[in-house]
Formats: sequence, C-alpha cells, structure tokens
Amino acid sequence: MSKRHLSFVCQNCGAATNRWQGKCDACGEWNTLVEEGAGGGIGARPAGPGKPPRKGRTFALEPLSGGEAQDAPRLKSGMAELDRVTGGGFVRGSVLLMAGDPGVGKSTLLIQATASLANAGHRVVYISGEEAVAQVRLRAERLGLAKAPVELAAETAVEDIIATLSEGKTPRLVIIDSIQTMWTDMVESAPGTVTQVRGSAQTLIRFAKRSGAAVILVGHVTKDGQIAGPRVVEHMVDAVLSFEGEGSHQFRILRAVKNRFGPTDEIGVFEMTGSGLREVSNPSELFLSERDLGSPGTAVFAGIEGTRPVLVEIQALVAPTSLGTPRRAVVGWDQSRLSMVLAVLEAHCGVKMGGYDVYLNVAGGLRIVEPAADMAAAAALISSMANAPLPADAVYFGEVSLSGAVRPVAQSAARLKEASKLGFTRAVLPEAARSEVNGDSGMTLQTVSNLVTLVSEIAARGEKRKGPGREYPVPGEED
Ligand code: TYD
Ligand code: MG
Repeated sequence: MSKRHLSFVCQNCGAATNRWQGKCDACGEWNTLVEEGAGGGIGARPAGPGKPPRKGRTFALEPLSGGEAQDAPRLKSGMAELDRVTGGGFVRGSVLLMAGDPGVGKSTLLIQATASLANAGHRVVYISGEEAVAQVRLRAERLGLAKAPVELAAETAVEDIIATLSEGKTPRLVIIDSIQTMWTDMVESAPGTVTQVRGSAQTLIRFAKRSGAAVILVGHVTKDGQIAGPRVVEHMVDAVLSFEGEGSHQFRILRAVKNRFGPTDEIGVFEMTGSGLREVSNPSELFLSERDLGSPGTAVFAGIEGTRPVLVEIQALVAPTSLGTPRRAVVGWDQSRLSMVLAVLEAHCGVKMGGYDVYLNVAGGLRIVEPAADMAAAAALISSMANAPLPADAVYFGEVSLSGAVRPVAQSAARLKEASKLGFTRAVLPEAARSEVNGDSGMTLQTVSNLVTLVSEIAARGEKRKGPGREYPVPGEED
C-alpha cells in the first residue's frame, strides 16, 4: 500500500518492489534485488503516518534578470580538453558526475585538474573514499604535482565531509572519489547500495547549491549489480561526463552525456602516459598516426565532434564466411547503421554480402555517432570486398539514404579545411555539398550523388589490380 513497504531495490536501475525476485521487472537484470531499509527506494521518506502536514514556509522569489553578481560563474580548470567538454569550465554550485570503468583514469584526471586549480590560487578539496591519503599523495608525487596546495582527506561519511567543508572559505571545487563509497546517516542501507548512493548524492547536491562550490562526483560503471551503478544519480546532477577508453589503447575520450550548462557533443581527448594524462589538442593526427597505407578496406572519414573536425580511419574486413549466418561485427560505430549500409549496397548497388563476414572498426577507440560516416564506411566495405585500396590522400563523408542517394551533411567546409591541413588532397563528398564549399578548399573534390557511382568507381580500381592471387569477386559482377 504505501511506498515505504517497497524494501527490495534493484542495484542496477533503482526500481523498488515489495518482495524479492530473481529478475528485476524494470531493467531485466538478474540477481540485482537487495533488501534495503524501509523507506528506501523510489520516493523515500514520506511524512510518517499520523503526523500533521507541515505548514509551508514562505520564501523570497527573485527576478530572472539582474540578481547579485557573484565572482566568475565558471571556473576554468586550465586543462583545455576538460574545459571544452564542460562547456568552458565548472559552474558555481553545480554538480558533475564523472563516470567511467574502474582504472580508466578518473582519479588521475581529477588530481591533475585540482592541482592546476590549486596552483592558480583556488581552494580545492579532494576527498578520497577509496585510497588512503598517502596513496593519493604518492600518485600526485609521481605526476609531479606534490607541491600543489590541494586539500586532501580520506573520508566516507557525507555529514562529516559537509561539516568540514562548511568551515572556513568556501571551496571552489570539491572532488568526491567515489560516490559509491560514500554513506549518509539519512538512510539506513549499507554503503554502495542504490539508496545510499542516491542519499549521499542528494546531500552533496544540496551542499553544492547552498554553498556555491562546484562538486564532482566520481562514479564507477559496473556491469554486475554488486555496486550501485551511477545511473541512479544521472538525473539529479547538472552534468554527466563519461570517461571512455579501451585497455589496449592509450587514448581516453571524455564525452559529455548530459550538460545543463553546455554542449553535449564535444569530446576531449587524452593520452595516458607514464606521467599522467596528456591532453591531445589535435586528435586527427593521433587517430591517423598508425595508418596502414595502401591496403584495401580502409577509408579516412572527415568527421565533426562538437565544434571540432576530427579525421579518423574506418577499417573494414569483408571475408568469405564459413558460418550459416554470416557475422556482422562493429566496433566504434552503430550496428544498425552498418546493417543499413549493407542493405543499401545489396539492394541498390548489386553488392551481395550474404556469403561474407563483415567486420568494421573505427581506429583509435573513437566512437562515431554521426550519420556522415556512412559514405566512408561504405567505401571501406567495398574496398575490402573488391580488394582495391582507396587513394591514401582522400577523405570521405556523406550520409547515405535508404534509396542509395548520398545526402549532404553539415559543416563540409570545416571538414575539408582540417583534411587539407593534414595533407589530404582529395575529398569524396555529396553532390549537394559543392555549393557550400564553393571551390576554394584547395582540394580536388569528387562529388557523389548516389552510392552506385562510388561502388562502380572503386570496383574499377579493383579490376585494374586483378591478378592471379585475387579471390574476391568485384562487387556487382557476381551475377
Ligand atoms: P586511475 O586514475 O586510478 O583510474 P580510476 O580512478 O578511473 O579507477 O588510473 C589507473 C590507471 O592509470 C592504472 O591502470 C595505471 C594508469 N596510470 C598510468 O598509466 N600513468 C599514470 O601516471 C597514472 C597515475 C596512472
Ligand atoms: Mg580512482
């Protein structure tokens, strides 16, 4: 009857039920329901039964314009890549969630950012709930930041933290590493449970709004339901930054997933080195640094991430399959987008991929979401299938529609400028983009209005290379 009886809470999504079950009805995860103290779960702490309703307190309403001018509403960290993603610095009184896999480098990035701010004369506090003070200090020493006047503590009790922070000058920035280790007296559940994570976050958010300090909560993303995912606080905070990277790559990409005070399509690129994270101000150079020139199946995509053009190599492998259902594997791009491009190639361009496994990979660990990558992906796929290398000095971009038409995309001029800067001399782009570029790009432009044109052009290159060793058919000539 009352929500207070919902005492089993899913540790993955936060849904509450009144009895235990093996599978969470809300998110479908198994073994994630844990009993938490009554009053936990969604809609915690309603007024107790029998208590008279509290009489409302009046408060002053303020005008939207004007108001008291406070010192700089944004606090620049001094790390350009981080500031780019937050939209120009941390906002006063805002709360930011920094989410990422354990070991990706969240603590490293934040200790570097706090050191830089402290060196600039701001009061910054780093609260570690995972590492001892000596460990944090050791890391800072290794990064050459030991002299920065950052205030450190290893603490997990939220009320104690807030009491400490409320003394003296209000800190400009507070790091809570991590939110999953924090606990508050307000709720009874064990630390690490959804109720505790949510309760602690709520208390810290209230502190941030009241004091004007910017607070960063670190959250580990875990697949299994053992530790409450930071998902449950996503809707409460002002911004969610996701720090991504693959173990095998040195590159780390910071992406804004949600941002109440800035854009969500900007990325920040870092490289993990022996002495901490290094900012990469020109990601294209990095993503193209290990290009395999002259081999079939690779195409350079001229993309845009936020406001910045980024060139990246798209690699495809089309190989005869030994399975009944051929494999379609993709890393760094959308699986359904790949299916769509394959369907268009098959339906409109006579490229039969039914008997082939298809693998597609975006080099460097970048994840592309732009539809403009369609044409580069198609070019890489055909190139691999026809065993015809694409010209090494060409970039590709354009959206492919279901009819096979190549549609224009935004910011063609910026894409070409970046490509030209990096030494590319040719671009394969949508017909309609030519007018935007108006000829002064300094590059040879090859416009394509339909994917059929691209396929026949690449197939013709393959034809020229046709030699004794070639075992793949040229697209379109099978039947
Ligand atoms: P860390 O910041 O502790 O990760 P998180 O807080 O996200 O769990 O980073 C740990 C990894 O970073 C670890 O695998 C080692 C690597 N690392 C370096 O390669 N160089 C360095 O200078 C530092 C400090 C860490
Ligand atoms: Mg850490």
